[in-house]
Amino acid sequence: MKNEMKWWQKTILYECYPKSFLDTRAQGTGTLRGIIEKLPYLESLGVGALWLTPIYKSPMVDNGYDVEDYYQIDPVYGSMIDMDELIAEGKKHGIRIVMDLVFNHTSDQCAWFKESKTSRDNPKSNWYVWADPKEDGSAPTNWRSIFGGSAWKWCEERKQYYLHTFAEAQPDLNWESPELRKALYDVANFWVDKGVGGFRIDAISYIKKPSVFTDGEPDGQDGLAALNGLVNNMDGILDFLNEFKKEVCEGKDIFTVGETNGISHDMLKDWVGDDGVFDMLIEYTHISPEFKQNENWCEPQEWKLSDLKKMLSASQNVINDFGWYPIYFENHDKPRCVDHYFEENADKVLTAKLIGTMLMTLRGTPFIYQGQEIGMSNVSWPDISCYNDISSLEQYKTAINSGYSKEDALKGIHRFSRDNARTPMQWSSDRNAGFTDGEPWLSVNENYLTINVDKEENDPSSVLNYYRKLNQLRNEYPCLISGSYKSSNDEDDQTYAYERHYEDQIIRIILNFTGQELVYEDIPEGSKILLCSYPDHHKGILQPYEALIIKID
Ligand code: NOJ
Repeated sequence: MKNEMKWWQKTILYECYPKSFLDTRAQGTGTLRGIIEKLPYLESLGVGALWLTPIYKSPMVDNGYDVEDYYQIDPVYGSMIDMDELIAEGKKHGIRIVMDLVFNHTSDQCAWFKESKTSRDNPKSNWYVWADPKEDGSAPTNWRSIFGGSAWKWCEERKQYYLHTFAEAQPDLNWESPELRKALYDVANFWVDKGVGGFRIDAISYIKKPSVFTDGEPDGQDGLAALNGLVNNMDGILDFLNEFKKEVCEGKDIFTVGETNGISHDMLKDWVGDDGVFDMLIEYTHISPEFKQNENWCEPQEWKLSDLKKMLSASQNVINDFGWYPIYFENHDKPRCVDHYFEENADKVLTAKLIGTMLMTLRGTPFIYQGQEIGMSNVSWPDISCYNDISSLEQYKTAINSGYSKEDALKGIHRFSRDNARTPMQWSSDRNAGFTDGEPWLSVNENYLTINVDKEENDPSSVLNYYRKLNQLRNEYPCLISGSYKSSNDEDDQTYAYERHYEDQIIRIILNFTGQELVYEDIPEGSKILLCSYPDHHKGILQPYEALIIKID
């Protein structure tokens, strides 16, 4: 395999949820200055790209994914001066800032929408997706939005419905309008000119809508049909995205990662690489093996390690030859991985190290989600009123309406709520985990006295210092970055073993996903142990949740 890797393939990306990162103003929510303060911390983890979830001015119905003004920083985070400083300071630490482009929808408070809704003939009248009611006055179709309920909202002013793939307060933009597309490219170029290093592009596979709106087959008790399958990756979407690439990306030193639910491996050639539209795509298959989404309500489902491994191997094998994926096991929309892939009583430190090992040694760019590097875990709050996430609140409502008891509905929320990942970052054992001197916008996880950065800095065997060792290994062994992937035991439901091959180097990674000791004798003579999640590896045995990296000579 040739070593012609781009910077974004070799680096580590860190996803920051600014609202929960670090507050420097005692206001209860994180600030840009808080991020600036922690750049040396991020540098110490080997981070070269820092993805900020949206920080634009926003009413925060969906915590920033409802953008009011793409050209302003939300005052809660600070100012454009802070942002310029973050970009400049980031560069000094070798960290490029990655902005989240939310281009499928805006907030209903965005000036564009306010103008669009005033009439059917104003200059921005076709910047959003408007449609007349059915003859009986009901919504144009029976589509269910991703957050639940009808995907259409009546606008009295214009006497038409508008489409919202997500919340009512997030009207969908109409990419068919050339003026709208130009306005979006101007936004992106404004940020390129500011010196950002790239974009994560939100919900982008939904931007092209069908030319005729027709009902889908109802798939739930509410009589609605999930819009996800009906308005996703429609024919013609690539024309828009190729135009975006030409107008925004070509010839610039930036990289793009598309959030493209539903783009399968066989479509990759159109979506990434020199002839594709993005540099990498967020891969979905492996992220939720243990739940299925049902009428906007998440139900646990049985899953086996072999299922997860097959999903991972499938995408790894594809990018052995072509294209590139981020590697991620957490983000701001998913529960914490230590509670996600393991049984309830599993050791949190060992499992955090196991997932960290996978994250940093599979082929692809590791995306660390804030707090993952210290092993942060889920919360189980006693009442739905403790939760903030719009999607959890909708899911809870759906569950209650479908006859679940409060207790069962809450159990589902505990397991799947996006707030699990959004609790404030745990910096220290101080009040509010050192996150804020004010009242945190979302409660701090009560385990902060045992899980926090300060404590882990001083413990050589902590999850945090284990992540640093993983980063050192990536720097020391090009095989872990450029090497091809080869799985050796996809059928096994207890362990995951795979190798990376590069020139004459072979590195094998062995992970015990069980809480039991297992016999493992397949370590060739002369192999060198590069890292073990225990103080020592015991020959012939894998200890519970042990992660082992060996170099085979
Ligand atoms: C995907 C984002 O990751 C999620 O947090 C958001 O709610 C939706 N897109 C809508 O923008």
